[in-house]
Amino acid sequence: MTTIDTETTVGTETTVGTETALDTDAGSWTTAARIYNSTVASWAISAAWELGALDELGEQGALDTQEFATRHDLDPAATLGMFRALASVGIVHRDGTRITPAESFAEINRTRSLFHWLVRGSGELFRQMPTVLRNENRHGTFYQRDAIAISRSCKEISTFCYDAWFWTAMDGLGFVPRVAADLGCGSGERLLQILRRHPGTRAIGVDIAGDSLKVAETDAAAAGLGARISFVEADMLAMDPRPEFAEVELLTCFMAGHDFWPREQCVATLARLRQLFPNVRRFLLGDATRSVGVADQDMRVFTLGFEVAHDLMDTFMPTAADWESVFAEGGWQLRRKHSIDMVANEVIFELEPR
Ligand SMILES: C[S@@+](CC[C@H](N)C(=O)[O-])C[C@H]1O[C@@H](n2cnc3c(N)ncnc32)[C@H](O)[C@@H]1O
Repeated sequence: MTTIDTETTVGTETTVGTETALDTDAGSWTTAARIYNSTVASWAISAAWELGALDELGEQGALDTQEFATRHDLDPAATLGMFRALASVGIVHRDGTRITPAESFAEINRTRSLFHWLVRGSGELFRQMPTVLRNENRHGTFYQRDAIAISRSCKEISTFCYDAWFWTAMDGLGFVPRVAADLGCGSGERLLQILRRHPGTRAIGVDIAGDSLKVAETDAAAAGLGARISFVEADMLAMDPRPEFAEVELLTCFMAGHDFWPREQCVATLARLRQLFPNVRRFLLGDATRSVGVADQDMRVFTLGFEVAHDLMDTFMPTAADWESVFAEGGWQLRRKHSIDMVANEVIFELEPR
């Protein structure tokens, strides 16, 4: 291979005979740069949310990276790097150390929890993609995620993907539940909202992740609601009956119901919930569902990450039609379906015992 070194073709290799030409002008690799810088920016969005920078920019309209770093005891060069990543994709403007919101700031600030879910909550899963893909590794505990980051993300995702429809369903119950239980409760926020709205109601949060429950317990105590809520660390697919479950009139399960699947296990779990909660009057089941007929290039924000992550984890992700095919067999009747379709084909099913 011969290297030509002229004023106009510095760094360009050419070919003689059968060898192939290589264009090494990195300046022309704009697609690669856009994808690469967006990846770095995704991490920066998640970090800037966690560190309070997005809130501060949203509320105050500007910040100085040096001053922000000093105030939060952060490394100044690394902090500047985080903001450069945000500036590289048009989320903020940067003039030296002065940062102001740019064109896409409002949209990214609104959807920041989706990025946090991906990189902070599920980052280790994606990092291990080649290992996780191998059949020989797909048994036992073959991936890790950050339960606290997932809980934090879901708490905010819920505010724009579920809450308005959840409260429409709650307002249509026709009764105030004496006790509500939330399966896969994560941060516990849904139950805290119910307790705030209904002072006579008590609540039980069930989750498999002890770390998330500790945070939920602290939040409940800080909200002054600790005495009206209890948390149970258990696998909702295999938990034993408890006397307090007999008091539950309202069952909820949000962003966790896909773990009931595959089909046979889902039917059995739905039937088992009837036994575990014998006096339940309504079950509000809200979840993302698998997209149908959407081209890979047309995926909305979140959908692709959500579906690929669940494929990596070997978690069956049902379509809305899959869900509707199991309720009767599992002992439940569908009263109403709320098709939300925000970022991951979200649906809330209002169920009652058959
Ligand atoms: C995506 S988060 C949703 C949290 C919460 N429901 C919300 O709406 O913000 C899913 C939650 O389900 C919990 N979870 C997953 N599988 C579970 C199981 N088998 N039993 C109990 N909890 C489970 C996870 O630990 C996590 O907190």
